[in-house]
Amino acid sequence: MQTSTPRNGELESDLSLEFLRVVEQAAIACAHTMGQGDRNLSDQAAVEAMRREMDTVPIDGTIVIGEGERDEAPMLFIGEKVGLAQKERDGRTYDGVDIAVDPLEGTNLCATGAANAIAVLAASEHGGLLHAPDLYMEKLVVGPSSKHLVDLDAPVRENLRAIARSLGRQVDELTVVVLDRPRHDKLIDEIRATGARIRLIGDGDLSAGIAAAVAGSGVHAVMGTGGAPEGVLTAAAMRCLNGEIFARLVVSTPEHEARCRAMGISDFKKVYKSADLARGKNIIFAATGVTDGTLMKGVRFFGDGIRTSSVVMQTNPHRIRFIDSIQVYPGPSVKIRF
Ligand code: FBP
Repeated sequence: MQTSTPRNGELESDLSLEFLRVVEQAAIACAHTMGQGDRNLSDQAAVEAMRREMDTVPIDGTIVIGEGERDEAPMLFIGEKVGLAQKERDGRTYDGVDIAVDPLEGTNLCATGAANAIAVLAASEHGGLLHAPDLYMEKLVVGPSSKHLVDLDAPVRENLRAIARSLGRQVDELTVVVLDRPRHDKLIDEIRATGARIRLIGDGDLSAGIAAAVAGSGVHAVMGTGGAPEGVLTAAAMRCLNGEIFARLVVSTPEHEARCRAMGISDFKKVYKSADLARGKNIIFAATGVTDGTLMKGVRFFGDGIRTSSVVMQTNPHRIRFIDSIQVYPGPSVKIRF
């Protein structure tokens, strides 16, 4: 990636704070709809706010994972150009930035006020994020201590024993997050048979994956099948957190195959890891909590302002920031509480 005033071709740290604004604004917009029971309304609010804010970021960016691979999405669609682009704010724009977005990960979670809805994006130099079709993906997500000991194709029992050993605990002291779906009945039976604890979630295997890579979160692994776009975003987070995702696209029809090929994927059986899904040298990942979650609080409106909780991470320089922001309403007597 190059700036118009070249700076070693790196996505610099100030750009990560620009992306922070983008996810904060998306989270705030959809948080207003929390509990309204209308997932489309929540999603639309997040998408519009993210799209608007994205054009204030000094990049010549391209959406590579976005809204509606198959539908005609009006904005944040794959291939859409975003950013301040050639306007060269202060003489600097970053060229060739690829962006993966999920303006609201967990639309139902927001619509019902359930935990762990987030607004999220990842960015990289051109070519650094896999163009994944919106298919399902088998996934296994673990943290740094277990990443060399597990295998997507190993029996569940073996993987859980390895994870427990690496964490210095018993299998029945692990918590595994699984999407609550009928397709996971067998997986859930297998995990239960080991004695490991399970957290069944309604949606949101991306935020669960991030938690699995953060020690102390209480999540030790994510297992099961979820969205491939979320898998690429998880991989970007794993690159920053030194965790690992093992993933394989679920390609079961000629139509799936055609969609893969259209995105340049021809090996349908490949087991991807983070460095395959998010291979960029310079990865930035930003997420803001919409509803209260494991690692981030949800958006809080408190009369004098809006408080958000976010994580912003990057590989180069390698840095993780948990950020608590307050947007203060105008007026001389607004109060800020600790
Ligand atoms: P949203 O599109 O509503 O944000 O759904 C998110 C999600 O739960 C992901 O976290 C997960 O990867 C995927 O959907 C699972 O898909 P499905 O609901 O079809 O099982």
